[in-house]
Amino acid sequence: MDSTIENAINQQIHQELTASHGYLAMCAYFESVNLKGMARWMRKQAGEERNHAMRLFNYLLDRGCRVRFEGIDVPPFDFASPLEAFEAAYESEKKNTRSIHELFALARKVDDYATMVHLQWFITEQVEEEKWCQEYVGLLKMAGSEPSAVLFVDRQIGEAAAVEEAREAELAT
Ligand SMILES: [Fe+2]
Ligand SMILES: [Fe+2]
Repeated sequence: MDSTIENAINQQIHQELTASHGYLAMCAYFESVNLKGMARWMRKQAGEERNHAMRLFNYLLDRGCRVRFEGIDVPPFDFASPLEAFEAAYESEKKNTRSIHELFALARKVDDYATMVHLQWFITEQVEEEKWCQEYVGLLKMAGSEPSAVLFVDRQIGEAAAVEEAREAELAT
């Protein structure tokens, strides 16, 4: 494998693990303010990001490359509101989409077809990720600082997490 691709995939593994860490911190924040539905959603996202890192981890090993870890920065600990946390999630997903697209462009430049195919899954996944971010940011903007509305959104997001967890459990059997 071209060493620039190997380095860029290592960088992407770092990005996915950083995202996982960030979501776990958001989960802890939501638990601390008793918004259990949003906490459940963020816990699930943290697991997903770790799985993304593992897909790339396994891919590098399959290609006979080395995996190199870097230190992960301390993620934001506190948020002014649920909206602020979801906006931070949206920013992090957009950043992730950009880096996956850059990685794909790099693989295309050096005709690394296997990496291009492997990255296709990630490109599709990012469309999903940005979709829920937009949806939940929109709902939380609508809810504003009305506690009953925020609680309603919390229940809705918690239900969405439960539905996805059930679907994944079914796929795993
Ligand atoms: Fe990811
Ligand atoms: Fe993500």
